[in-house]
Amino acid sequence: MENYVLDWLGLLFRWLHLITGVAWIGASFYFMWLDNSLEEPPPWKRNKGIKGDLWAIHGGGIYEVAKYRLAPEAMPATLHWFKWEAYSTWLTGMVLLTLIYYLGAESYLIDPRVAELSPALAVGLGLTFIVGSYVAYELLCASPLARHPLWIAAVLAMAAAFLAWWLSRVFSGRGAYIHFGAIIGTLMVGNVFRVIMPAQRSLVSAIARGEAPDPAPAVKAKLHSTHNTYLTLPLLFIMISSHYPMTYAHPRNWLVLLALVVITAVARHYFVLRHRQVNRPWIVAGCGLATLLLAIAIAPAHLRSAGTADTATPEDALADEGWHIVRTHCTGCHARAPTDESFTRAPAGVMLDTPADVRQWSDRIRSQAIDTHNMPFMNSTGMTATERERLAQWLAAGAPAPG
Ligand code: HEC
Repeated sequence: MENYVLDWLGLLFRWLHLITGVAWIGASFYFMWLDNSLEEPPPWKRNKGIKGDLWAIHGGGIYEVAKYRLAPEAMPATLHWFKWEAYSTWLTGMVLLTLIYYLGAESYLIDPRVAELSPALAVGLGLTFIVGSYVAYELLCASPLARHPLWIAAVLAMAAAFLAWWLSRVFSGRGAYIHFGAIIGTLMVGNVFRVIMPAQRSLVSAIARGEAPDPAPAVKAKLHSTHNTYLTLPLLFIMISSHYPMTYAHPRNWLVLLALVVITAVARHYFVLRHRQVNRPWIVAGCGLATLLLAIAIAPAHLRSAGTADTATPEDALADEGWHIVRTHCTGCHARAPTDESFTRAPAGVMLDTPADVRQWSDRIRSQAIDTHNMPFMNSTGMTATERERLAQWLAAGAPAPG
């Protein structure tokens, strides 16, 4: 019953998180596009203080958008702000983190092969990482270093590397990745809440008072919004990373995470440049190549060596052994009636009650238990390397049923 309710809550908040996230990132992409598509306005608009304008068609109507250099003659009665998208993405994300990784800490956050934490300690550590990283980031941005955007970027990059390594020493692979993502998300929303919104408020109130706006909040907001720009694509990768155990279940998962964060941030740089009318397609090509090299570097050993050495086993013995391995290591969870305490319904709908079921799922089994060691989940059943090899041979033979 409890699991069933949690699953529904998980579904609801994942859905809300997706909607709010799309609205947030979508709006920020849209405004970036607007800024970079503005054209020189006609003189009558320029005289009104308009810096650039553009025309667009969408949903059956034509839109005229104009951006003021500073402000219109009078403040409009309704000025639309964009902030709730960011706040609600963070709030739904934190609820989701709690539902999946904190209430399910024993399943998803703690990996006894990494560290034997109690659920309370794991959750406490997770929250400390998030709050601590945010405070450290704020202190750094308030320090004299903030006057040198490149230095601060270098310090942040080193801190991120250390953080990824540290998280991977404490949590399960996906727990480490999701915390890295939650920290990025928290910094980004914190930037909106603590820096970007106050700068906008100060601009609006200066204009309303008819005074020249103070440039300091705008300069600070610029630094923080640059950070947000570069963090967007890495964050989106981390949001979907839990589907890809070849990344988070790799023995050096923190390095894989850093590589993907760098690649996605550099890909973002391509768009930043393009928005400045600089087109450097080789940056995108470089990112593609780097991803390919990463995929090769972390490929499972047996994919890199040509063919698996086939130690001939009589067919009957292999069938018995393969089927026995699945019964020992998989069907506790993956069955029509699982016996596992936490997973009372077959996870991901994968049921392995018969050798025919195994044949149906053979590719996914290979991906989860042989190419990566993502299954058995957290290796709760203690599957050995030899057993994985035998399982691979049995699958390669077409998973024949025992005699
Ligand atoms: C302790 C419970 C448990 C055991 C034992 C277990 N699994 Fe899983 N399995 C899970 C969970 C939980 C998921 C869902 C994973 C997720 O959320 O990413 C899953 C998902 C899967 C998937 C679907 C994932 C995909 O992307 O296709 C496959 C295939 C799979 N397991 C195979 C296996 C095999 C093979 C074994 C035995 C070698 C095994 N599992 C043992 C819990 C378990």
